[in-house]
Amino acid sequence: MTLPFLKWAGGKQRVLSQYKPFFPPIACINHYFEPFIGSAAVFFSLQLNIPAALSDQNEKLIEVYKIVRDDVAGVIAALKPHRNEADYYYSIRAQNPDDLTKAQRAARLIFLNKTCYNGLYRENRKGEFNVPFGRYKNPKICDAPRLEAAAAALQGVSLQVADFAEAIKTAVPGDFVYFDPPYVPLSQTSNFTSYNKAGFGPDDQVRLAETVGHLTERGVKVMLSNSSADLVYELYGRSPYRLIDIQARRNINSNPARRGPVKELLILNYDEKWKT
Ligand SMILES: C[S@@+](CC[C@H](N)C(=O)[O-])C[C@H]1O[C@@H](n2cnc3c(N)ncnc32)[C@H](O)[C@@H]1O
Repeated sequence: MTLPFLKWAGGKQRVLSQYKPFFPPIACINHYFEPFIGSAAVFFSLQLNIPAALSDQNEKLIEVYKIVRDDVAGVIAALKPHRNEADYYYSIRAQNPDDLTKAQRAARLIFLNKTCYNGLYRENRKGEFNVPFGRYKNPKICDAPRLEAAAAALQGVSLQVADFAEAIKTAVPGDFVYFDPPYVPLSQTSNFTSYNKAGFGPDDQVRLAETVGHLTERGVKVMLSNSSADLVYELYGRSPYRLIDIQARRNINSNPARRGPVKELLILNYDEKWKT
């Protein structure tokens, strides 16, 4: 199975086995859309042989996928010299990405992701990556087989920097959309929702629910992940939506005591037996 080559806040790798029974059979889908791609754990696990449109608002993330898709050998060559040392890390972090080649730029983001604190992506107000060095013992900075498998899975895939509402505009009946937005926080301090300088607040959650409503009216099948916060029940706790409980483990929380199992929700606008 193809695995993500980035570690991303909210990555879905650990809950995939609980999601599996609820994906529609690939044979029933014409076009796959994933508008909050993050580490692409769901896309990679599906091993699709149909057209796919992946997008995210984070332009640096989308650029890395494009470069891996189009020049994986160049990215691997550019990753090889990188080393897991604090001074070196800060010198790479201080680089202006615009001064690098495309392959070097992708390698820089992958290197920072593998060696930074907690593997999270965070930007300051100027849009600069600002996570400190992670002090991992032996991070796998250059995982060539994984990058090559990802590049193979990305061949022919559309990659776009877009807001989620824009990204699904061309979806029609027979298509399937999987949404994994930044979650509604369970409490003010419990969640990491600031993926980029824009953030994702309650207004965006309402806008997303409206988008899901329009897709449902248009006959597009939708699956969506979110937390079990009250707002999620308010937005989706009625017909035609089906809410499935998922047991997840939070992996990005500064307080280790809060890293235990947490109930999350999987929301479907279809019967998982694919009848409706
Ligand atoms: C929960 S993460 C997705 C995790 C992903 N499914 C995985 O397995 O790694 C949410 C993503 O939404 C992106 N994002 C935030 N606001 C957005 C928006 N308005 N439109 C599109 N993407 C957005 C963030 O950049 C982030 O990559």
